[in-house]
Amino acid sequence: MEKIIIGSDHAGVELKDFIKQSLLKEYDIEDIGTFSKDSCDYPDIAKKLANTMETEKDCLGILICGTGIGMSIAVNRYDFIRGALLYNKDVAKLSKEHNNANVAILGARTFSKETNLEFLKIFLETKFSNEKRHIERIKKLSDF
Ligand code: RB5
Repeated sequence: MEKIIIGSDHAGVELKDFIKQSLLKEYDIEDIGTFSKDSCDYPDIAKKLANTMETEKDCLGILICGTGIGMSIAVNRYDFIRGALLYNKDVAKLSKEHNNANVAILGARTFSKETNLEFLKIFLETKFSNEKRHIERIKKLSDF
């Protein structure tokens, strides 16, 4: 079973639970919090997810906040992370096919639970194209 690490701030807790319930039969899901609607800070969750992914090695991540913007800014500070904010179906597909994104980021307040789940399923079901041009572009990110 493919391993997925999932995390959210307080704005994304409900969506996180909905996603966990929807995916638990097909994926091995580890929830790193937060676990209540009490206010918390998205950078803390993004950091915890990145640290967990670094330890786990071969796994994907899902991060959720209100807009997905805070989580996007925070998690992309790690050089082994390619986080993609999923805001439509094409983006969900291309972020994996071209960018080999390893963290899917969702905005709990910008799309419904069902729409976010639809984007996420497309992301999870799409494989990296493995095309030379995309491999080379991703390699260039390591030179930063
Ligand atoms: C929390 O109110 C909200 O600011 C946060 O979830 C997120 O949208 C930040 O980018």
